[in-house]
Amino acid sequence: MKTIRIALLGLGTVGTGVYKLLERRKEEIPDKAGVKIEIARILVRDIEKAAKKADRKLLTTDWKEIIEDESISVIVEVMGGLEPAGSYIMEALGRGRHVVSANKDLIASRGQGLLEKAKENHCDFLFEAAVAGGIPILRPLKQCLAGNEITDIMGIVNGTTNFILSKMTDENMEFDEALAVAKELGYAEADPTADIEGYDAGRKVAILASIGFHSRVVFDDVYTEGISAITARDIEYARELGCVIKLLGVAKNTETGIEARVHPMLIPDDHPLASVKDAFNAVFVHGDAVDDAMFYGRGAGEMPTASAVVGDVIDILRDIQWNCCGRIGCSCYKNLPVKTIQDIESKYFLLLDVEDRPGVLANIAGVFGSNAVSISKLIQKNAKDGCAELAIVTDLVKEYHFRDALTILEGMSPIRKVSSIIRVL
Ligand code: NAP
Ligand code: HSE
Repeated sequence: MKTIRIALLGLGTVGTGVYKLLERRKEEIPDKAGVKIEIARILVRDIEKAAKKADRKLLTTDWKEIIEDESISVIVEVMGGLEPAGSYIMEALGRGRHVVSANKDLIASRGQGLLEKAKENHCDFLFEAAVAGGIPILRPLKQCLAGNEITDIMGIVNGTTNFILSKMTDENMEFDEALAVAKELGYAEADPTADIEGYDAGRKVAILASIGFHSRVVFDDVYTEGISAITARDIEYARELGCVIKLLGVAKNTETGIEARVHPMLIPDDHPLASVKDAFNAVFVHGDAVDDAMFYGRGAGEMPTASAVVGDVIDILRDIQWNCCGRIGCSCYKNLPVKTIQDIESKYFLLLDVEDRPGVLANIAGVFGSNAVSISKLIQKNAKDGCAELAIVTDLVKEYHFRDALTILEGMSPIRKVSSIIRVL
C-alpha cells in the first residue's frame, strides 16, 4: 500500500488539532482512503515552542526543506495571513503538490489565482475549514447541492460576535463587558477588530457567494458593518419587537446582480438562525430544488476546524488513490455583477431622540414619506426633560432613499440624535 507524505505549515490552534487528528485516525485511514499517511514535516517559526506539541524531529523553520522534498505530496497550510502563506501555496501547486488550507483571508482575496494554478497542475486545492470551521458547507454547495440554482445564503459565520451578542441578549451585558468575557474565555483575540467589525465574516461571505452563485466575489466586494455600536438598549427594543440581533452574512443572487454584505440585523425570534447561540455558527441556504436547508455547528476551535481540514486531506488521499485529482476545482463559470450597498433594499430599525412637542412626529413622517420610506411600526417612550425616544421600523426601502431621508432628519432641529440604525430581516 502506498504511503502519502504530508507536511503541515503552522502548528497553532488549527495545526495542533490537525496533527492530533491525523495521528488519531492514522490506523484507520488506509481503510477509509486506500493509502497510508505519514506526517513528514511541520513548518513553524519557533521550534522550542512547537516541540511541546509535536515530535521535534518533524519540525523545521525552513520552507525549502518541505518544497524541495519530492516525497511530500500534500501540504496543509494552517499558518494564516496573506504572506508568506500565499506564495508557499502558489509554489506548492506549481510543483504539483495538493494543498489544503483554512486561510479565509487569502482565499477571499486571491482564491481565483490559486484555483487556476491548481487546475493548470491537475492538483486538488481544498479549503472547507475556511468558512464556518467544522461545519460542512463548501463541499455541500459544490457537490450535494450542485443540482440547484442557489439564490440565498445567509448565516452566522463568526463565533466571537455571536458569543458577544448572546451575552448581551441573555445576560443583559453592554458590548464592552461582553467583549471582555469573550477575550477572557479565548473566543476573541487580543485585537478583535476583524471579528467585531465584520471583516472575518465578510471574507466568509465572499467565499460562500463565489461558490454558491458560480461567480467570483472578493472580500472588497462585500459591504461590512460590525457590532461595536450595538447597545443593550437596541437589544431591549429588539426583544420588544419579537426579535433578536445577530451579525448576519448575507449573499443573494438577484436578477440585477449579487448582494454580498455583513451587518447586524434584527431577526424574528422564530427564525431558525435566532436560536443559534454562543460561539456556534449556522448557514441557511435556499435553492430552487432543495428549498431551505440549514447547516449548524462549531465554526471555530482546535478540533472542529481540524475536522474540516482532515476531511479535505482524506478526500485528497482518495483522489490520489483513484487518480482523479483536480476533479472539483474552481466553479466560477459566470461573471455576474455585484451590487453596491446603495442599490440594496432593506427594512430598518432606527432609534431617535427627539423633542417632545406637537408636530415633530408629523415632520418625521413627512420626511420619510417624501423619500419613499414607509413606516411599518413606531414606538414612543421615555418622554422626559422635553425629550422622547422614538423607535421606528420601516418597510423595505432602497438604501439610497433611506440615507437621503436620514440626512434630512439629522439636520432637523427637533431631532437631537439618531442613536441606532439596524437592518431588519
Ligand atoms: P495560530 O494559532 O496563530 O497559528 C498559526 C501558526 O502558524 C503558528 O504555529 C505560527 O507560529 C505559524 N506561523 C505563522 N506564520 C508563520 C511563518 N511565516 N512561518 C512558519 N510558521 C508560521 O492560528 P490558527 O488559529 O491556528 O489559524 C490558522 C489558520 O486557520 C488561519 O488562516 C485562520 O484564519 C484559519 N482558521 C482558524 C480557525 C480557528 O478556530 N482558530 C478556524 C477556521 C479557520 P508561531 O506560533 O511561532 O507564531
Ligand atoms: N474568529 C473566527 C470566529 C474563527 O470568531 O468565528 C475563525 O474563523
